[in-house]
Amino acid sequence: MRIVITGVPGVGKSTVMEGFARAQGLEIVNFGTLMFEAAKAQHVVTDRDQMRSLDPAMQRTIQKQAGQAIGAKASCIVDTHATVRTPRGYLAGLPAWVLDAIKPDVLVLVEAPAEQIHHRRTADPTRARDQQSAAEIDQHQQFNRAIAAAYAMHSGATVLTITNPDGGLEQALQQLRNALG
Ligand code: AP5
Repeated sequence: MRIVITGVPGVGKSTVMEGFARAQGLEIVNFGTLMFEAAKAQHVVTDRDQMRSLDPAMQRTIQKQAGQAIGAKASCIVDTHATVRTPRGYLAGLPAWVLDAIKPDVLVLVEAPAEQIHHRRTADPTRARDQQSAAEIDQHQQFNRAIAAAYAMHSGATVLTITNPDGGLEQALQQLRNALG
């Protein structure tokens, strides 16, 4: 099965997914890491948080390369984004050419209260995360729900929403296990 996990930065998608994948013995593929390796090889970034500011055409080029690399794999969980917030607006994380390469069975949206995501981002000094208000984070989560419907229409994948509030990691994992375990 091909599972794609998405969520706005700081929602905890990597934390939730690692717990689930470990228990299920599934390979995790981080889309951002594949893109970062491609971008570094082309000498256009030195830090993964710089990728969101690249020219959108360049982002789409390295995105396509990452999608093709994942398409060559068997079952896996793909850690990625429904949309990426760039200076020019939201960039689709799973445009048609990426969906066609990945062929997902399930698209998971990890969500949490916007205020809590805002706090997690500001509490993490290790990353150059975007400074966004809770209202902007809320809008981003709503936009991701809307675009997930388009991804479902294109690919035939089901869409599963998982809630990961503060202190709610175990319940989030249980929701995933109930649906996909
Ligand atoms: P990526 O590597 O996915 O980075 P990110 O967006 O910053 O996401 P993170 O993995 O850092 O955050 P997370 O939401 O998984 O949260 P975490 O588990 O760490 O992407 C990097 C870049 O690649 C993107 O910016 C983009 O440029 C590019 N990219 C990727 N995919 C792309 C695509 N398809 N198209 C184009 N570009 C793409 O948790 C955060 C914190 O919260 C942690 O401290 C954790 O301990 C805490 N936490 C988690 N859950 C809980 C809980 N229940 N209670 C309390 N604390 C919690």
